Amino acid sequence: MDDAMVTRLRAAGCVFAEEEAALLAAAGGDRDALVARRERGEPLELVLGWALFAGLRVPVAPGVFVPRRRTELVAEVALALAPAGGTMVDLCCGAGAIGGAVAYARPDLTVVAADIDPAAVDLAHALLAPLGATAIASDLDDALAHLRGLVDVVTACPPYVPTAQIPLMPREARDHEPVLALDGGPDGLDLQRGVFAASSRLLRPGGACVVETSDALERLTVAAAAGAGLVPALERDDERGAVVVVARQAGASTSSSSRA
Ligand SMILES: C[S@@+](CC[C@H](N)C(=O)[O-])C[C@H]1O[C@@H](n2cnc3c(N)ncnc32)[C@H](O)[C@@H]1O
Repeated sequence: MDDAMVTRLRAAGCVFAEEEAALLAAAGGDRDALVARRERGEPLELVLGWALFAGLRVPVAPGVFVPRRRTELVAEVALALAPAGGTMVDLCCGAGAIGGAVAYARPDLTVVAADIDPAAVDLAHALLAPLGATAIASDLDDALAHLRGLVDVVTACPPYVPTAQIPLMPREARDHEPVLALDGGPDGLDLQRGVFAASSRLLRPGGACVVETSDALERLTVAAAAGAGLVPALERDDERGAVVVVARQAGASTSSSSRA
């Protein structure tokens, strides 16, 4: 253990200074420079170049949203819903964490991830291509017309912070993540509504979308799913502070799963 690193990280306000020091030491390179980046408030994941998600090291880079552990629930629910040999689309994929976790666990699935930001698509491509999955640039499902009516599961962690609350977010997010990845519009639901509308176009009868939301927004998110003609239910994991809406397309189920 490098005691000097731990001392500097603790003084910089890092709650898990020992763990961070061990990770930064293992990262190689100039330890002083790495600690200095943390002292300047850069998120640990950006300093390391990866974020842990469902046991995978997902590559991350400045300017692209850092995947959060709570979003693992989206991937877990999707895995439980996806039928053997099925097709999954991850909208607003960012660095590709959800699609990567699903493709890694289930090589039988066809996984397509899409994001409007080319920098995110590049990162997602680097993660997904070796897993046999695809990342493409698309404003929601604009570039996915060929998949309409063919998808078993749509996943999404879209931006859902109401615009007025962005200045209240932790500094690490405000200073290091693009507004495009955070801003959900006046009520936080602009992109969620878009995802539900896209899901109603993409899903097979009986297919389902799994969309991250927050405790504060969950009732509005459920209403938005119903407004798109889907049949919504809530799933949550209080330990990770995670809440998702699982919304089904009417019709015959394509999954043997008992979830949702
Ligand atoms: C909160 S981040 C989540 C990224 C990823 N799903 C994750 O959990 O790490 C939201 C993502 O939505 C993308 N995005 C915003 N507007 C979009 C749109 N109209 N179409 C597609 N992606 C969009 C952003 O570029 C960003 O990568």
